[in-house]
Amino acid sequence: MSMEIKKDDIIEVTIESTGFEGKSVARVEGFVVFVEGAIAGDTVTAKVYKTKKNYAEAKMVSLVRPSPQRTAARCSYFGVCGGCKWQHVEYATQLTYKQQHVADALERIGGFKDLPIRPIIGSADEYYYRNKLEFSFSEKPWRTEKDMNELTVREGLVNTFAAGFHVPQRWDKVLNITECFLQSEVSTGILNTVRDFALANNIPAFSPDEEQGYFRNLVIREGKNTGDVMVNVVTFEDSPEVMERLTAELKQKFPGITTIINNVTKRKSQVAVGEYEKVYLGDGLIHDTLGRYRFEISANSFFQTNTRQAQRLYDIAKEFAELRPTDIVYDLYCGTGSIGIYISDAVQQVIGIELVESSIRNARKNAELNGVTNCEFIAGDLKDLLTKDVEWRSRYGTPDVIIVDPPRSGMHPKAVEELGRMGVPRLVYVSCNPATLARDLQLLAQDGYTVEAVQPVDMFPHTYHIECVAKLVKR
Ligand SMILES: C[S@@+](CC[C@H](N)C(=O)[O-])C[C@H]1O[C@@H](n2cnc3c(N)ncnc32)[C@H](O)[C@@H]1O
Repeated sequence: MSMEIKKDDIIEVTIESTGFEGKSVARVEGFVVFVEGAIAGDTVTAKVYKTKKNYAEAKMVSLVRPSPQRTAARCSYFGVCGGCKWQHVEYATQLTYKQQHVADALERIGGFKDLPIRPIIGSADEYYYRNKLEFSFSEKPWRTEKDMNELTVREGLVNTFAAGFHVPQRWDKVLNITECFLQSEVSTGILNTVRDFALANNIPAFSPDEEQGYFRNLVIREGKNTGDVMVNVVTFEDSPEVMERLTAELKQKFPGITTIINNVTKRKSQVAVGEYEKVYLGDGLIHDTLGRYRFEISANSFFQTNTRQAQRLYDIAKEFAELRPTDIVYDLYCGTGSIGIYISDAVQQVIGIELVESSIRNARKNAELNGVTNCEFIAGDLKDLLTKDVEWRSRYGTPDVIIVDPPRSGMHPKAVEELGRMGVPRLVYVSCNPATLARDLQLLAQDGYTVEAVQPVDMFPHTYHIECVAKLVKR
């Protein structure tokens, strides 16, 4: 290790490559320094906060010479809010970073060289792509200069009321947000209206320390293809009088809102799910479509966040699966059944497996809603259903195709092992984490699978996240 670099040193470095999770790479006389807040091509000063034998970690302090890849961030909260970490990088450049990240992970972790990785599919919408956004309320505002100027001029609750997003690593503090380009103009309008309503009526934010107050979260869901809008107000107290007044105000200002609900929770944990739910407008549900299928979405049910890209992702999965009308397909980690339902018209039978019981209920309901009769859904831990509780498999016969879409942690090793043993001819792996994808593909390759194609798809512009679909065949 270069003895020159010590904790708290301020160093000037030029960034070599943009790293993931916000840590870019620079070198000082060959010694690696990971720098937060900088991108490839930047020259920055950075403060060292950790030193190890082979590397150090530092945070950018000032930008000496900006990278040509930088662009002006659209949002005035950029850098404070923490939601869109790459808004200061041209979208086309973000896509090249993501493409490279997939190739690097597959090579470094999976040991795959020269895999056929297709060019990444960028998001059709660079902004306003999310169909769900969760805002928080707090009695501890995180102050920015803009905030100080715009909001603190008002008296009263404003010093103890914030509506927006938690700042990174500060789960107690919330940054007041009056604009956001993630969901829609209506979504920020609703947030601002709820804040104004709270301030005008002296209704406080919930305080977890004192276990009192009212507003906890505001969750807005939109059916991007149907125009439906759900407003879900999560509160500590159950006050029909407050909710009725708020509903009247929201409905008058935003006639497009189709349902308003109130989730009430006394729990200390900051999860935006109520112990019970009351409906104040509409039926408490919205709908959205993927292709010709319609999906029912309740306040707490899962639905892919970027609707347009989800459809593109599913189209790739469908293409890679090379479906035939006689196929029996396993849709593993099926969530609310959307992949299975989406491909149902091309196959004989789909069997979906999912851990969360309520998602399985949603999946069955979604199949019914679409008149789909060839999808069955089973609740349970996939590892157990593949290795111990295997009775269900004899009911449906050997699958021709398996589609897996595990969480970020990837598949349980025992589940991968069993997939290898089953040896179905076609396997499609949908992944939201290139690192665990690479790990699991390596195991499957040892079991005789060939990775024929990998398609990265960007679902979340301005973030580090990247989704991939991999096509595996066993000949
Ligand atoms: C990435 S989501 C897949 C969602 C779905 N395929 C879709 O496109 O909407 C991963 C799913 O795996 C489920 N899951 C996590 N661990 C599981 C396990 N051990 N067994 C079965 N399902 C699991 C989660 O509840 C979640 O719904």
